Amino acid sequence: MEQKKQVLSAIQPTGDIHYGNYFGAVQNWVKLQEQYDCIYGVVDYHAMTMPYNPKKLREYTWELIFNLIALGVKPESLFIQSLVPEHAELCWIFNCFTSYGQLTRMTQFKDKSAQAQETSEDNFISAGLLDYPVLQAADILIYRADYVPVGKDQEQHLELTRSIAQRFNNQVGKEYFVLPEPLFTEVPKVRSTADPTRKMSKSAGAKHYINVFEEEKRLRKQIRSAVTDAGDTPTGQMSPGVQNLFELLRAGGNQEAHGNLMQAYEQGGLKYVELKDAVADTLVALSNGFREKKAELKANKKEVKNQVKASSAAIRAQAQQTVKEVKELCGLSNVKF
Ligand code: TRP
Repeated sequence: MEQKKQVLSAIQPTGDIHYGNYFGAVQNWVKLQEQYDCIYGVVDYHAMTMPYNPKKLREYTWELIFNLIALGVKPESLFIQSLVPEHAELCWIFNCFTSYGQLTRMTQFKDKSAQAQETSEDNFISAGLLDYPVLQAADILIYRADYVPVGKDQEQHLELTRSIAQRFNNQVGKEYFVLPEPLFTEVPKVRSTADPTRKMSKSAGAKHYINVFEEEKRLRKQIRSAVTDAGDTPTGQMSPGVQNLFELLRAGGNQEAHGNLMQAYEQGGLKYVELKDAVADTLVALSNGFREKKAELKANKKEVKNQVKASSAAIRAQAQQTVKEVKELCGLSNVKF
């Protein structure tokens, strides 16, 4: 049998998962599991690069693990980054194969350093923030990933990963690392229902995102108050708010309602309240399923945790092998594992 290609992706443990995260990333992770050998990380070392609360980090990490499994990610695909400390070791080695200038030119660094300065009390920007993409390169290369499903915003980081791999290969005189490719899947992009001109995101505040585990009552309320038409859309064009509701319907898998309501729209007879009800019904059904699954997992908390500790340990064995070979190749001393 032909060996499956390796896919690697990761997510930072920061609070709730909303429908923007789900439709834009996690749902795709779940689908990729059918076709590829997938490894997905909850990257807690990355979460330390911005001002954060040390008393909450571990709780967020485990909460995200439970959330991901409830959404359909297989526990055996999951690992917690800090349970695989070889990522940090490889990051150090990669630091010495990374161009400092290239790091300072990263768009995410420019954005986040401005943000860090605003949110920290003492204008603190950590060196970890600058180094963030090198740790990301270690996440990817340590498992020899062929593909990395990422959004456009991560393209530059993947490019950097490829430069690091290339420089490493050149310096050690061996085509050791595979150059990973981005996997751009067409994913639905959902916007804030409260302001459909911006994307759904946590940073803008509670009304700008819908938690995937939301209770029916609040979920319906959020959809009912969705902005449909702010009155500034040229005639003959669909307003961003209405587009977004259709997008949510399609992403949620309710193709039938999508078809019928689109037909009504084209004939000029769409009632917004019907569109909103259809969206609410679709999301409520999804969220109810997710909440049920999560409650089941929470009832077996200990087992789930042990399962993910075991999968992290199994995944760690792969990482250890890579680091051992890398140390060999770059002239560092090595101990047998
Ligand atoms: N930087 C990614 C993000 O903000 C998260 C991430 C960390 C990641 N390591 C990774 C994504 C490795 C893909 C592969 O979304």
